[in-house]
Amino acid sequence: MLDKTKVIYQIYPKSFKDTNHDGIGDIQGIINKLPYLAELGIDMIWLNPIFPSPQNDNGYDISDYCALDPVFGTMSDFEEMIRVGSQYQIEFMFDMVLNHVSIEHVWFKKALAGDQYYQDFFILRDQPTDWLSKFGGSAWSQFGNTNRYYLHLYDQTQADLNWRNENVRNALFDVVNFWMAKGIRGFRFDVINVIGKDEILKNNSVNEGKAEYTDKPITHEYLKMMNQASFGKNPEIITVGEMSSTTIENCILYTAPDRQELSMVFNFHHLKVDYAEGKKWTIQAFDFQALKELFHSWGEAMSENDGWNALFWNNHDQPRALNRFVDIQNYRVKGATMLATSIHLSRGTPYIYMGEEIGMVDPAFDSIEDYVDVESINAYQMLLAEGKSKTQAFEIIKAKSRDNARTPMQWEDSEYAGFSDVKPWLMVADNYSTINVEKGKTGEIFEYYQTLIHLRKIYPIIQEGTYHAFAKDSSEIYGFERQLGQQKLLVLNHFFAKEVEIELPEAYQGGKILISNYPTEIQAKLILKPYQSIAILVE
Ligand code: GLC
Ligand code: CA
Repeated sequence: MLDKTKVIYQIYPKSFKDTNHDGIGDIQGIINKLPYLAELGIDMIWLNPIFPSPQNDNGYDISDYCALDPVFGTMSDFEEMIRVGSQYQIEFMFDMVLNHVSIEHVWFKKALAGDQYYQDFFILRDQPTDWLSKFGGSAWSQFGNTNRYYLHLYDQTQADLNWRNENVRNALFDVVNFWMAKGIRGFRFDVINVIGKDEILKNNSVNEGKAEYTDKPITHEYLKMMNQASFGKNPEIITVGEMSSTTIENCILYTAPDRQELSMVFNFHHLKVDYAEGKKWTIQAFDFQALKELFHSWGEAMSENDGWNALFWNNHDQPRALNRFVDIQNYRVKGATMLATSIHLSRGTPYIYMGEEIGMVDPAFDSIEDYVDVESINAYQMLLAEGKSKTQAFEIIKAKSRDNARTPMQWEDSEYAGFSDVKPWLMVADNYSTINVEKGKTGEIFEYYQTLIHLRKIYPIIQEGTYHAFAKDSSEIYGFERQLGQQKLLVLNHFFAKEVEIELPEAYQGGKILISNYPTEIQAKLILKPYQSIAILVE
């Protein structure tokens, strides 16, 4: 059974803390900061991939699943991390990229060299389909100097694996077992809902071909098999599937406990409410109505059908939520605590992305040369090719690049923000002298996160309560109720920079305030301040 008291913290290892002076974060850096994370109160750390990799997609192009990239440290560093973590009751979640491997992986190399056994590990066709890669261009590239093509839904150095082949599945399940035996207690499965591909692949020019490989029914079977062959053997293991362009119906199936697939899922619909016409590389203010409706429909459907969501605003693939949903010039702190309340008191498992707990925001890079991410660089070229000026294209990259979240963690007000003593692999955000852990640890945001994490641990209604939409018609407030037995919890989150009045149902007028980011008293007509959150409990 999933332990619903837990809160997970995501570390982007390359950018967390460098201890050996190469400008790249490392395992010793994580060990170094465990006391800080214990103070925050989190239970598990999800690390983005730290396996050997040519780093074409920052580690999501893995060349060896059962080793560590020496840039991050050795196996004995890893063991020390697990050991020291357990002293702080902190466990670790690894990032399993099982949809594809790097073309530097020995499987692909052997396949290229003509080994039939390994050729069956990949998706090779004489006739490519019209599908597009998620990083731009065709999803197919020529397989060596043959007349065949291999599928890569992501970068051309990330070759999709053939899950139809039992040998592939067994090899991947072995990987999960390997890391479980080493003490890993959580797994995040990268783009796991695209692993199931049909034997006969069809052209589909709609939506880049996504329907041909997303959420295929066979994916559920594969997850069940993986569950049985690996993590399902230990009921304490936590799993989360990253789901690309998924549906509520499928996410219920992926997570309902009796299905024995995964503990929970990440979906991204709520982080597309600022896309113009569904397109990422555009600039548009977020659509509150759409956001609220998504939260409500997912919240209610998952609650009614025993599904379980991973709750998050940020990760390594998203610009910082503060820049997208909050007037950070005037309300960075209140906005940060409001966003946190809106997910931490909801139904699901909350994730905190490094730096969120001190209110980190996007960097103000001033040149395209400052960006490292393959997706951003490809998108910039694509925007220019579409006829955008350099300035226009740059403005879009600046707002949307994944590097926005990947800048080094800001520890203190010293050169390179205390992340490293040499120039980091990606520039530190210019705001580090005001936004950093040294200042933030005694600040409003950090303490508020501590309280939210603590509340989840002591209130079963936060862990287990059902979810119901509240104030559905409000154009400023995202509200919901949780219910457990006789208890009810009302959570109101005001998403705008002005005051708004709301009528409090009688039942809550005699309730108690569990938390608010402003000093407040309960009143029949509540006036919510800019970006105010409030949670009221009635027993
Ligand atoms: C996931 C990862 C992302 C990566 C992609 C391909 O979306 O979060 O960083 O680029 O998968 O592996
Ligand atoms: Ca280092």
